[in-house]
Amino acid sequence: MNSSSEGQVRIAVVGAGVIGITHINIIQQEPDCVVAAIADPTPAAASLAAERGIPYFADYVEMLDAVKPDGAIIATPNALHVPVGLACAERGIPMLVEKPIAESVESSLTLIEAAERAGVALLVGHYRRHNPITQKARELVQGGGIGKLTTATGLYLIQKPDSYFDIAWRRAAGGGPVLINLIHAIDDLRFICGEIATVQAVSSNAVRGFAVEDTAAVIVGFQNGALATLTLSDAVASPWSWEITASENPFFPRQPENSYYFGGTEGSLALPKLEFWSYKGEKGWGAPLSCEKIGIQHADPLVRQMQHFCRVVRGEEKPFITGADATRTLAVTLAVKQAAEKGCSVKL
Ligand SMILES: NC(=O)c1ccc[n+]([C@@H]2O[C@H](COP(=O)([O-])OP(=O)(O)OC[C@H]3O[C@@H](n4cnc5c(N)ncnc54)[C@H](O)[C@@H]3O)[C@@H](O)[C@H]2O)c1
Repeated sequence: MNSSSEGQVRIAVVGAGVIGITHINIIQQEPDCVVAAIADPTPAAASLAAERGIPYFADYVEMLDAVKPDGAIIATPNALHVPVGLACAERGIPMLVEKPIAESVESSLTLIEAAERAGVALLVGHYRRHNPITQKARELVQGGGIGKLTTATGLYLIQKPDSYFDIAWRRAAGGGPVLINLIHAIDDLRFICGEIATVQAVSSNAVRGFAVEDTAAVIVGFQNGALATLTLSDAVASPWSWEITASENPFFPRQPENSYYFGGTEGSLALPKLEFWSYKGEKGWGAPLSCEKIGIQHADPLVRQMQHFCRVVRGEEKPFITGADATRTLAVTLAVKQAAEKGCSVKL
């Protein structure tokens, strides 16, 4: 069923690829909203729209003008986020822009300015921040629950199948885990630990031998003085990545492991299992540590993101992840690329 009933938020989806279809499925399951239209030039998108009885347009400008949706989700390739976002801003349509907000900090600022000038809400799809696990971790780490934050360690060690690299751009510079996957980890660290001040990085293509890196090691310095390391590779047979451990997406068969570790002066926290390690009595390496599992109410972060977007469209809430915040995550991610290329430390 795709007909709208009174009070439902009419959301258009621009770009019906992997994540666009995920959003369409969520909208169709949510009572609060309805898919107003799909805009995507491919025959596959036209068939999907026809199957589901959703108004279809090949051209997004034509769609925005004809349908006048209450809100739009921009799930196109990265290079189109800003042009589509500008078209939404011009028409006063609140938007949920997929990550990364833009390809460069400069173009991101253009979009933010246009949205501000038009008074249009702009939410960015760093959806993991809607996960009760990351929210609990932020509360504990920033609220002093583990004492003074000293270190964080993040692992993104995953095996992309060889067929993933049949598409040429994925073998070329920019197609690797630093620009595609690390942005999530950078955003997780910023959200949970605080603002990042410096990055250093080394990358390697020694496993696959493509022009793009398959592996990188990153050192992060926070404004609060804590240090983090992130190790990422898309050529490792391992369960230690957020995707495999956090149960957010059934595409990735879950393993009950952790992939983030936060160390503080009073205790340590491992995610996504939310295991809290601390001394119950006297502190010191000769004393026993105990582990407690922090209980939370689990929820699907993509569903929560959509519910929030509906409230943003209605003017009931301000965007939880603003354009400025997402631009900072983009800037840090681009700084990691720069640090790896030049072998230097980059200050933000
Ligand atoms: N939040 C997440 O976890 C997550 C996951 C995957 C992708 N993404 C982001 O979402 C975006 C899309 O990624 P994807 O994996 O779904 O890519 P995809 O290639 O599967 O889908 C992109 C879609 O956009 C369509 N498109 C291209 N030009 C268009 C145009 N002019 N007008 C309308 N549609 C157009 C394509 O035909 C395609 O269907 C990227 O920015 C990516 O970084 C986010």
